[in-house]
Amino acid sequence: MNDAPQHRTEGKIEERNYGSYLKIPELLALQELKSKPLHHDEMFFIIIHQSFELWFKEILHETDLLVRHLQKGHISRTLKVVKRINSIMECLTGQIQLLGTLTPVEFSGFREELGTGSGLQSIQFRELEFAYGLREPFFLKYFAADEEACGRLAARAEAPSVYDEFLRALAGEGVPIPDEVLGRDIAEQYEMSADLVQVFSDMYSNPEDEFHRVLLSEALLDFDTLFAKWRSIHILAVSRTIGGRKGTGGSSGKEFLESRLGYRFFPELWEVRNFLIQEKGVAS
Ligand code: HEM
Repeated sequence: MNDAPQHRTEGKIEERNYGSYLKIPELLALQELKSKPLHHDEMFFIIIHQSFELWFKEILHETDLLVRHLQKGHISRTLKVVKRINSIMECLTGQIQLLGTLTPVEFSGFREELGTGSGLQSIQFRELEFAYGLREPFFLKYFAADEEACGRLAARAEAPSVYDEFLRALAGEGVPIPDEVLGRDIAEQYEMSADLVQVFSDMYSNPEDEFHRVLLSEALLDFDTLFAKWRSIHILAVSRTIGGRKGTGGSSGKEFLESRLGYRFFPELWEVRNFLIQEKGVAS
C-alpha cells in the first residue's frame, strides 16, 4: 500500500507530490515572452514582477489575519503576524534591487511589448495601500474596466484600515483614544490628530506593564519604514533604467513616483517622535 497522500481529480485518484501540490508545471508555464526575436532579458522582467505579485498576495493574506487578531484584541498574536509581514517586506526591498542588473539598453530591447502596462495597474499593490489606509480615488480609474478589481478595492475602502483596527484594539485595552479619531470617516484620508499624538506620547513615556503596546507601535513603524524604503529603491531603479523619461503607464515617471515618497500609513506614530525628544530635553 502506497502511503503518499492522494487526491481526486475528475474521478481519478492521483498521487500528490511536489509538482502537483504546488502546481509547478502550471506556474512555470506562466512566463510568456512576447519579444520576437526573443529577448533574453524579458524572462527576468516577467519573473521579477510575477514573484512580487505572489508576495503581495501573501502580505494581503497576512494582513487579513492581522486585522482579525486586532479585532479580537490579541495584540501579542498581531505582533507575530507583523513580524512575518516585515520579514517579507525586507526581502522585497532586496528583490527590487535586482532591477539594477537590467541595463537601459537591455530594457529598451523589449519595453514596447509592455504596451501601456505598468505597476500603476497592480491591483494588489493598490489593495495593500488601501488596507493600510492610503485610499486615493485617483487610482481607481486604472481598474475601471475590471469589475473584480473594482470590487476588491471597494471592499478594502469600506473596511477599517489596519491603523483603525490598531487604534480600536488600544481603546479596547483602555488607552484613551479620542472619540473623534475612533469615529473618523474610514473612507477619507487621515487628518493628523494632535490629541492622538498626545495619547501616544503618554503611552511611550509611561508604558508601565503595557510595553506590548509600544512594541506593536514600533513594529507597525517598521512596516511603514520598509514600505517607504521599497518606494525609494524602486525610484532609484527606475532612474537607473529609464532616467527621467515617462513611464509606460503614462505618468511623468520618476517625478510622479517621488510625489508619493512622503506617504506614511501611521502619521501620528511618526509625529510623536517630536514630542518624545522634547520631553527628554534634547535640543533640536
Ligand atoms: C525596469 C523595471 C521598472 C521600471 C522602468 C519601472 C518604472 C515605473 C514607472 C515609470 C512607474 C510610474 C508609473 C508609470 O508611468 O508607469 C512605476 C510604477 C510602479 N511600479 Fe515600476 N518599474 C519597474 C519595475 C517594477 C517592479 C519589479 C515592480 C514590482 C511589483 C514595480 C511596481 C510598480 C508599482 C507598484 C508602481 C506604482 C507605484 C505607485 O503608485 O506609487 N515596478 N514603475
